[in-house]
Amino acid sequence: MAVGIFDSGLGGLTVLDAVSKRLPDVPLVYLGDSRHAPYGVRDADDVYQLTCNSVERLWAAGCDLVVLACNTASAAALRRMQENFVPPNKRVLGVFVPLIEALTERQWGDNSPPREVGVKHVALFATPATVSSRAFQRELAFRAIGVDVEAQPCGGVVDAIEDGDEMLAEALVKSHVEALKRRMPKPEAAVLGCTHYPLMEQVFQAALGDDVRVYSQANLVADSLGDYLTRHPDMLGEGAGNQFLTTGDPDRVSSKATQFLRRKITFEPA
Ligand code: DGL
Repeated sequence: MAVGIFDSGLGGLTVLDAVSKRLPDVPLVYLGDSRHAPYGVRDADDVYQLTCNSVERLWAAGCDLVVLACNTASAAALRRMQENFVPPNKRVLGVFVPLIEALTERQWGDNSPPREVGVKHVALFATPATVSSRAFQRELAFRAIGVDVEAQPCGGVVDAIEDGDEMLAEALVKSHVEALKRRMPKPEAAVLGCTHYPLMEQVFQAALGDDVRVYSQANLVADSLGDYLTRHPDMLGEGAGNQFLTTGDPDRVSSKATQFLRRKITFEPA
């Protein structure tokens, strides 16, 4: 039994990489639904159905525990899945909460009432679907008061990354940062609320300036998964090595993944 890691496409590989480093003995099965990417321009019902299909595929591969390494799926589908779809012997976790706990200076799973925190002006960069769900603001309000969030829907960035077009992705990131800064000139923190965006982290940081702290999810999710597995060792079983599955064209997806992660990755058909 391995841990499943799911994303609409390549972005979740940033999470897989961090998990592999933090938990090198945990076997992982990655599933990228590249045939249906991007999710960020779809409506919530569509994202819910596609995410359920992919999670079922990972359950069939022996992963009782699945991490949605996709903010769009976490924002638009996770709560509904937990209420209607996930059976008692399986677990599906999202990527929002570890990030918000870090931003609000909380220990994992600290559910005490919301309080004032150090950061007051936060820039959120995410897909259009994640921004319109307002899931980030909702989760933040459970933990912090007095934080102003300005959200920028970053249309086109996921498509450019999935197409392997780094120049276009870079140009789009710069223009999205400029657009946000017109509305919030001096954010103290910026959240990369899409798992594709760490692949462009240096571009975000350069466009935002050195005085803006950029929060990216991969290491935070890896740490919180490590903590979860310590508390729930039953969710971890036998298995060896990592496996990469895609609903897209395996050769094409392997070559884009290898380009972005700068190491050889070989996908198989899902
Ligand atoms: N990596 C996904 C996320 O974190 C991208 C969603 C998409 O396919 O648009 O939101």
